[in-house]
Order: sequence, then C-alpha cells, then structure tokens
Amino acid sequence: MEIGINTDASIEEFLFDYKGVALWLKRDDLIHPEISGNKWRKLKYHVDEFYRGAYQSILTFGGAFSNHLAATAAFGKLSGISTYALIRGEEEMDSPTLAYCAAQGMEIEGISRSKYRLKESPEFLESLLELRPELYIIPEGGKGPQALKGCAELMSELKVKYDYIALSAGTGATSAGVLAAVQSEKILVYPALKAESFILGAIANQLMEYSTYYGLPSFKSDHLKKHLILRNQYHFGGYAKIKADLVEFMNKQYHKRQLKLDPVYTAKMLFGLLKDIDQGLFKPGSKILVLHTGGLQGIAGMNRRLAKKGMPQIDYD
Ligand SMILES: Cc1ncc(COP(=O)(O)O)c(C=O)c1O
Repeated sequence: MEIGINTDASIEEFLFDYKGVALWLKRDDLIHPEISGNKWRKLKYHVDEFYRGAYQSILTFGGAFSNHLAATAAFGKLSGISTYALIRGEEEMDSPTLAYCAAQGMEIEGISRSKYRLKESPEFLESLLELRPELYIIPEGGKGPQALKGCAELMSELKVKYDYIALSAGTGATSAGVLAAVQSEKILVYPALKAESFILGAIANQLMEYSTYYGLPSFKSDHLKKHLILRNQYHFGGYAKIKADLVEFMNKQYHKRQLKLDPVYTAKMLFGLLKDIDQGLFKPGSKILVLHTGGLQGIAGMNRRLAKKGMPQIDYD
C-alpha cells in the first residue's frame, strides 16, 4: 500500500553555529505530513508484523494530545486498516488531536487513569484480545522492539560525522533505537518529563528486549555509560507542562529561522541544548545533530490550553 512515506526527505541541514558549536538538524519531520518524525520509524515494523499476521485492526494507547495516536489514525485511514485507541483519562476527550483521530476513522474510548495503568499488563491485554482477537496491539507511544528497529535505521542514513546526537525522550524508545545503532557518537537525551531514574531503566530494558526479540547479541554492560548523556533538567515541570519562556523561545526560533518545534518534546530539547552550550558542556568545534522528531500536530491543542490560562500562544502563522 502506497501511503507516501519518504525517509529520503529526512535530510540533514546545517542549522546554525552557536558559541563555536555547529548544530545540524535531521528533518525526520519531513518523512510524511501526518506520520512524521519518529512516529513512522516506530510504526514501521509494527505495521510489518501486522501485515504478516492474521490481524484486522490496530489497537493502541495514548493521552488526548498524543502524536503517536494521530500518526496511527492517519496510517489507518491511508492504508484502509481500522484503528482503535484507549485514551488515558476521560477529561480531555474533546482535544483537537482526538477530533483529528476520529476524523481519520479511529475508534476512540476514554478509560479511567487507574484502568489505563494496566496498559502493559498481560492479563489486561489478554482480556482485550478475548473480546477482539483480530487486534494487533501497539503499546503506548508506539514503543516495543519493533520501534527500536525502526529508529535504529536512522543512524545508517547519516551523511556527516557527528560528535553528539541530541533527541527528546518520552517512553525512551527512540533513544534506545538510536543507542542500538550508535557507533562513536554520544547521545544526548532530553526527557520531556521528570524522569531521571525512570528513563535510564526504560532505555536499558528496551535495549535488552530488543536484542532478545531479534536474537541479537546483548549490548555490553558499559554501552549506555559510554554513549548516553542524560540531560534531565529541561522538562519545564513535567510532561506537556509549559511556561511562557518556552513559548517565547519557540516563537523566536520560528521567526528567526523558520524552525517549527513542538512544545512537548523538541522545543524543550533545543532549549536545553542551547543552555548546555551556554554552560560550556561541549568543546568548541563540536558537531551536534539535533533530531527533529515531528509532533507539530499538537500545537493546536497546546494553544487552546495556553489561551485558557491567558498565556501567550505559539505563533506559527
Ligand atoms: C515529537 C516527539 N518527539 C519525541 C518523542 C519521544 O519519543 P519516545 O517516546 O520514543 O521517547 C515523541 C513521542 O513519541 C514525540 O512525539
């Protein structure tokens, strides 16, 4: 099925020099207008397994503003596969993201936060499959060993040699995928949530699951120590939390360089990376690749929340 995915569009662009450090941008946001960034990379091998099995629909999980849900819904519409989503909490079922998902034909059901917490419990998943055995289940955020395999591929596309690769983390699947294929680079991980202990464990576990699932040799015990640098202090209060200075930063990046970032992930990462450069974390002459993981669909929802709080909005005209 031709759905218009174009990983060749994910070029590396020189972004700007900042205090002697060269920043480049990998444009994964250009992979597809609706299934952009790491979303396609994470879905790719789930989709592959879906087609190889006797499945008829896809079930996945997420919050009311989830980029992953939007991408899965778009994929379903474009490929003629029915999609179904269980949403965390019932409070924001009228979000622009969920309206978009519903318009793509996704079946959406809000469940309580306590029930949502069972999303990875084998018993809960089995009970869902008993009712609907035709479902292929993709975990929250599109993670799973399949996601790591898709994200690892981006490393073989790189044309320039970098000292560092900077990326934003939620579940840690994208970071783990990149770390699975890393060579000499150091990977700067900027979590979008308050997550120091959680994210390190999550990345390590996902790498282990990945090598087991695909029968690969396990990673050396010092792999993460050698390649992972966790930059944990730029979450702006937590997941999807935002402050006026982040909005101001985003508007400045857009008006100065036409660079559109998303408020939940990539804006926090670039904000943090520039602060890290200010603090002299990198030697002058270092080359850093910033991964643009997409996610721009969430801006409408964030602007609605900002308006409700009487805060300035993200202004990408
Ligand atoms: C735009 C964007 N960047 C980064 C991430 C973080 O990815 P991960 O959950 O794989 O850590 C996400 C979540 O999927 C995202 O939507």
